[in-house]
Amino acid sequence: MKKNILRNASILFLSVFVTSCSNNQESYNSSITSTNSMQYNNTTSFDGTSQNAITNQSTNDNTSIGNVSDELSSFMAFSFFKSEKADDYIEYQSKNPDFTAEEVVTYVNLGLNHDFYTNIEEIENPDSTLVLSNKYRILPKDYEPADLELIPEKYSKSWRDLYLRKEALDAFIKMCDAAKADGMNIYAASAYRSYDYQVTLYNNYVESDGQEEADTYSSRPGHSEHQTGLVIDIRNEDKDYDGFGSTAEYQWILKNAHKYGFVVHYTEEGEWITGFMKEEWHIRYIGIEHAEKVVENNLVLDAYLIQFN
Ligand code: DAL
Ligand code: ZN
Repeated sequence: MKKNILRNASILFLSVFVTSCSNNQESYNSSITSTNSMQYNNTTSFDGTSQNAITNQSTNDNTSIGNVSDELSSFMAFSFFKSEKADDYIEYQSKNPDFTAEEVVTYVNLGLNHDFYTNIEEIENPDSTLVLSNKYRILPKDYEPADLELIPEKYSKSWRDLYLRKEALDAFIKMCDAAKADGMNIYAASAYRSYDYQVTLYNNYVESDGQEEADTYSSRPGHSEHQTGLVIDIRNEDKDYDGFGSTAEYQWILKNAHKYGFVVHYTEEGEWITGFMKEEWHIRYIGIEHAEKVVENNLVLDAYLIQFN
């Protein structure tokens, strides 16, 4: 609710509102802990320095060279195996013995063997509909999609004009029309955000809540996938952001968004991977074929997309 105020207000007035903004750090930490079957030692800190420390539960000090070799070949079975990360896979597996080889290769490729916002790679495919920007991957500062189009007024409820990449906009309009036919009203509340816009937004959140807390719900500049033009924060007639999860429109989205190429990116199960609190309102366009795979297999989007990045 408090975030709603911030996100709907004009940037110029953000600082007026920031003192009322306070994210729910307590509930975030407890939800992170509930996913600890992943054997991550999610500590209470969420500042990118300690929450990703991996529990060193059963390091196998007796690993023989023969075993290492077997282990390596199990990682090499995956097309997204990277030879330069071979040592990292072995180390990560030893610290997380319950992970499958596929999980190890995926999570190490994502960067989860490091703290958030460390070992950051520059994104080389920002125009791809399968681009992945997250706490380990940064978009070029001056990246702006070439095919941004204005979201027609009918599909938007915001104090400013909103833009999306053409392919995402066409899909969004189709989805909103289909939702409307089912009696649902879905609008865009936020969409493309430039690097500079994210600077202002993030700085205001930091000023309001401190960096540790801001990092649980707002991307640092260059890391937000809003900059790709493939993301929409959606709302209904009267509920947005924190309120959207309790709406019939959200239930409709869960059931149907993938048919139009969208997935809800930030889920509770994915918090330990994305480093962000769940956001029922934040949908990402990846195309129908991929969205169906992600939803059918109940995947965290980052874990799916990293194989293409
Ligand atoms: N709220 C999402 C994580 C962003 O700032 O991109
Ligand atoms: Zn968003």
